Amino acid sequence: MNTNFIKACYGEPVDQIPVWFMRQAGRYQPEYRAIRKENTLMEIVYQPELCAHVTQLPVEQLGVDAAILFSDIMTPVKALGIDFDIKPGFGPYVEKPVRTLEQIVALKNPDFTKEVNYVGATIELLRTWLTVPLIGFCGAPYTLAYYLVEGGKSKSWQHLHGMMYANDERWHQLMQHLAVSMAAYLKYQVAKGAQAIQLFDSWAGDLSFEDYERFVFPYVLHIFEELKVVDVPKIYFGLKTSHLFPLLQQYACEVIGIDHTISINTARATLGDAKALQGNLPPTALFADRSILHAKIDFIIDQYQQHYNKGFIFNLGHGCLPEMQGEDLKYVVDYVHGKTSG
Ligand code: CP3
Repeated sequence: MNTNFIKACYGEPVDQIPVWFMRQAGRYQPEYRAIRKENTLMEIVYQPELCAHVTQLPVEQLGVDAAILFSDIMTPVKALGIDFDIKPGFGPYVEKPVRTLEQIVALKNPDFTKEVNYVGATIELLRTWLTVPLIGFCGAPYTLAYYLVEGGKSKSWQHLHGMMYANDERWHQLMQHLAVSMAAYLKYQVAKGAQAIQLFDSWAGDLSFEDYERFVFPYVLHIFEELKVVDVPKIYFGLKTSHLFPLLQQYACEVIGIDHTISINTARATLGDAKALQGNLPPTALFADRSILHAKIDFIIDQYQQHYNKGFIFNLGHGCLPEMQGEDLKYVVDYVHGKTSG
């Protein structure tokens, strides 16, 4: 078992910097595209053998140090009583967006052991196949609420922020419900064998410090407090969150995932060294010449080596893009390993 990823999360010494990529299973892989021709995304999730296969594919192909369960942040939402679809090229789509107090109080408190038993079955299967740790995940309340309240990708954020700034019972109840249920969903994944968990709060970095502190922070705090009882490393990730570091620092998580808009040095200067960092190669660096790619990776690793030398997991600043090439991703893994082993 390769445990460098887990060790790095806890700030323990490693043989080489562990690497994995957000969205490492996906459309840049011809094998994934072929499977998607025959199955929708959720149909993959519902079939444990197939889902485990899709999860494992990038681990074999790229030589990464962790697997992430193939799923979507929307997977547990059906169990709350919300119907959704994931539309190719668009993302989550909720036909009846959740906007009224009536809808919010009607949300279910699911028993995830029954409602998403296919997720548990996939995790159990993967634990018998994998030689690297398996990361479970869920969407954080704000990022989930974005899809549930807007109904899908939206440029105006009008409904979500309308509800948030109204600061009435609807916002609190919805965020509280999502916090409680996502904590339960993560506990379920760990009980089934997930060896780390990541909370994806992709869109939270668009909020000001004050708005985040007031409308988002208490709910994420709640999730990590609830998860103190599970003995696995926990990661919080969002885009453009550097202005929020003084708040993120207070979470009971071991790792902060950062995007490519901040350097490791600057992140360390604010965050200190109590947490491990995960990131933060710009995804678009994968489209550059090798010399440029080297320079971008060296920039990250030099900072890691000079100033801290532990508690770092190499990743992209955001997810893999469909236009990427598997061989380039593998090249990054080998380059980081080669540069940092021994
Ligand atoms: O990282 C992994 O390999 C695990 C799989 C994973 C998926 N979604 C599969 C998926 C993970 C971790 C997610 C999380 C997710 N889903 C997030 C948070 C992470 C992030 O990228 O910010 C968000 C915001 C979503 C919602 C969502 N689902 C979006 C925005 C999209 C893309 C829409 C598109 O087609 O461009 C999806 C669909 C989705 N989820 C795909 C994959 C591989 C796209 C490919 C497909 O349709 O098969």
